[in-house]
Amino acid sequence: MSDADDQKRAAGEAAAALVEAGMVVGLGTGSTAAWFIRALAGRGLDVTCVCTSRVTGELAASLGLKLAGLGETGDIDLTVDGADEIGPGLSLIKGGGGALLREKLVWEASRRCVVIADAAKHVKKLGKFPLPIEVVAFGHATTALRICDALVESGLGVAPRLRTRDGEPVRTDGGNFIYDAACGAIEEPAALAAALKSVTGVVDHGLFLDLADQALIGAADGGVTTLEP
Ligand code: 5RP
Repeated sequence: MSDADDQKRAAGEAAAALVEAGMVVGLGTGSTAAWFIRALAGRGLDVTCVCTSRVTGELAASLGLKLAGLGETGDIDLTVDGADEIGPGLSLIKGGGGALLREKLVWEASRRCVVIADAAKHVKKLGKFPLPIEVVAFGHATTALRICDALVESGLGVAPRLRTRDGEPVRTDGGNFIYDAACGAIEEPAALAAALKSVTGVVDHGLFLDLADQALIGAADGGVTTLEP
C-alpha cells in the first residue's frame, strides 16, 4: 500500500470512530471515503447511510450497510467525505470523482461534515487541482464560453476542459457533464463560487466553502492531524 493510501486509511478509520449507533451518516465518494465506509461497516453499528453516488451506494450495500435516499431520513447527523484540496479555513475543492453535486446536496443537509484526506491534499491556497464544474449537457459548449467569461472576470484566464473518458464526455450520476478549470491559484474562492453559480447551465462547482466542520488528515508518521476551520 502506498503512503497516500496508508494516510487515507488512517483518516477514514479515525472518522469511523466518530460515528455512534442510531446516527444517520452521509457517505462520501472516492478512495478515501471508501476507507471510511469499510471501517464504518466493520464497526457493526445500527446506522442509516445516505450515499453521495451510485458507486458509494454499491460499496455500502455490498458491506451490509442500511441505506436511505436523501430526504428519506431525519437530519443527517454526520457526513464524512474526501476532498481533492483542503485549503485555508477548510475551504475545499471536490469533484475529482465527479460526484460533486450529490456530495454538496448531502453535505448541506448534514449537521456536521468531516473531510478526510492524505497529507498531500492540504494546501496553502486552493487551485492547483483543476476545479470541477458540473453543467447540463444541453448547450454545454455555450455554457463553457460563459464559464470562461466568469473565470476571466475573476482574474483567471483559463479555458475549462470538458472531462472525457475514451473520447466521450463523462456523465455524472445526474447525467450532466463536467468541465475542469485549471485555475492555478484561487485568490478569492467565495467570489469565484458566486460567479460560477450565476452562469445559466452551471449546475454546481467543486468549491465547498464554509461546509466542513473538521478535517482529519493522515500524516506521514501514521498519525492523524485534526484541523478546525
Ligand atoms: C469525488 C470527490 C472525492 O472526495 C475527491 O475526488 C477525493 O477522492 P480520493 O479520496 O479518491 O482522493 O470529491 O467527487
